[in-house]
Amino acid sequence: MEEYLNKNIKEIINQYPEIEKILDEYNIGCAPCNVGTCLLKDIVEIHNLPPEDEKELMTRIAGIIYPDREIKIPRRKRTSQASREIKYSPPMKKLVDEHVLIKRLVFLIPAVINNIDVDSEEERQLVLDVVDFIRSYADKYHHAKEEEILFKYFDENLDILKVIHEDHENARDHVKTVLEAVNNRDKNTVVNHLNAYKELLTEHIKKEDEILYPWMDRNLSIREVGELFSKFADVDRQFENAPKKYENFVDSLEDKFKLKEMVK
Ligand SMILES: [Fe+2]
Ligand SMILES: [Fe+2]
Repeated sequence: MEEYLNKNIKEIINQYPEIEKILDEYNIGCAPCNVGTCLLKDIVEIHNLPPEDEKELMTRIAGIIYPDREIKIPRRKRTSQASREIKYSPPMKKLVDEHVLIKRLVFLIPAVINNIDVDSEEERQLVLDVVDFIRSYADKYHHAKEEEILFKYFDENLDILKVIHEDHENARDHVKTVLEAVNNRDKNTVVNHLNAYKELLTEHIKKEDEILYPWMDRNLSIREVGELFSKFADVDRQFENAPKKYENFVDSLEDKFKLKEMVK
């Protein structure tokens, strides 16, 4: 089993496609991931399943790889207790709260693009305001905290961070395309790329809330958590009233469309 723990997951799935379905049952979605070079042992560590689930998962994987043999499952050294309820450190909780506002905006995208008339100045302006929210709040304010502060505490060559960076880059590309398209009054491109952004960000936030941040929290020392908290507070001071302005913008869109995402 040790040999497979050190193999990359895509290779294992290629050899034993049934393993993909098993991982899915534990909400470990490796198959759609574009990077896919994580080792099986890293995946087990990053997801930090409760011990009984982890043992069951590994036993099922071993049963597929070695159907005729009884395999002893190595026990992993844990840095903290796994629990189904996620408890975030204060700086991580701050990022999760920022996701809530981004999710509320993302939820409104279908209403924004429904029957959009790109020849109307007012409707083009609405798309430009959405783009401004994405660029200023989701990207400059929130992604900058992630990329310029939080991720610097980790080895950026880790596969999980490469996946997250790739998502940020793809999100930026969609937004750039939307901006060009709205100026060219190209409705289809605006609609397609805002939809693609919605899909990408929904999955991205889920990955961060449920996998990345809890894993980071388990690997940060108390001193580092404190440092992060104070560095995030510096960013908040720098941005002054901007976050509040964007919260008001999302409130106004929810009123306009009479729609509100029930997010925690
Ligand atoms: Fe992110
Ligand atoms: Fe994020």
